[in-house]
Amino acid sequence: MQIALLGGTGDIGEGLALRIARDTDNDVLVGSREAEKAAAKAEEYTDKLPDTTVEGLENPAAAARADIAVAAVPAYHLSDTIGAVADELDDTILISPAVGMQRDEDGLHYNPPGVGSVTQLAAKAAPDHVPVVGAFHNLAAAKLANLDADLDWDVPIIGDDEDATATVTSLVEDIDGLRALSAGGLANAAEVESVTPLLINLAANNDGMHDLGVKFW
Ligand SMILES: NC(=O)c1ccc[n+]([C@@H]2O[C@H](COP(=O)([O-])OP(=O)(O)OC[C@H]3O[C@@H](n4cnc5c(N)ncnc54)[C@H](OP(=O)(O)O)[C@@H]3O)[C@@H](O)[C@H]2O)c1
Repeated sequence: MQIALLGGTGDIGEGLALRIARDTDNDVLVGSREAEKAAAKAEEYTDKLPDTTVEGLENPAAAARADIAVAAVPAYHLSDTIGAVADELDDTILISPAVGMQRDEDGLHYNPPGVGSVTQLAAKAAPDHVPVVGAFHNLAAAKLANLDADLDWDVPIIGDDEDATATVTSLVEDIDGLRALSAGGLANAAEVESVTPLLINLAANNDGMHDLGVKFW
């Protein structure tokens, strides 16, 4: 499959690009609002993985070729990003890893949009025929991008479309050290997303804790 990372020039995009390119049989397309930025980042990723080729394209061109597109952009730019590629999403599964958070003097707080969660916001912004699946919300980008680091994380998956959810589950399971777990339908997305600020607050308040993820026993 062709996996497009919209905003794949950023932190979570880099980690996912490197892991998907290294661990799976899929082709990785790095998307950006700027073609040159996408090309430069794709070259940087390819340099880290000499046996693979990562391509860089503007977001709509990456989406047009994608079987799966990951909207790897900040939550407040998610709807615009999906809108910019909507016409190109044909038989494409859209993954949303985005979490809405707000910072104050105590730390980070979950800050969902009015529809209940950012994943549901993505579903609202996507064309009706495009299945939206939530995944990767609780991963730490820096550890993901460090290819020397072994992962041992669970990835809660939320989605209403059975086939799309199964496809995303397979993609997640193909990445070394990740286990996909069903967390139910899109209506359950807020529970998954709200774990992310908890992980960041735990890391900020406890010595020696960083790049936290989740593992359920
Ligand atoms: N960082 C993490 O550890 C982590 C973990 C789990 C989930 N997430 C979620 O993943 C999403 C991306 O996080 P991130 O840390 O990777 O973000 P980021 O590095 O700040 O940004 C990712 C990309 O978003 C694009 N972007 C920036 N401003 C934009 C705008 N106005 N309109 C459209 N695109 C814009 C940029 O790509 P171009 O300039 O190339 O277009 C940028 O490289 C967030 O929703 C976050 O909640 C992050």
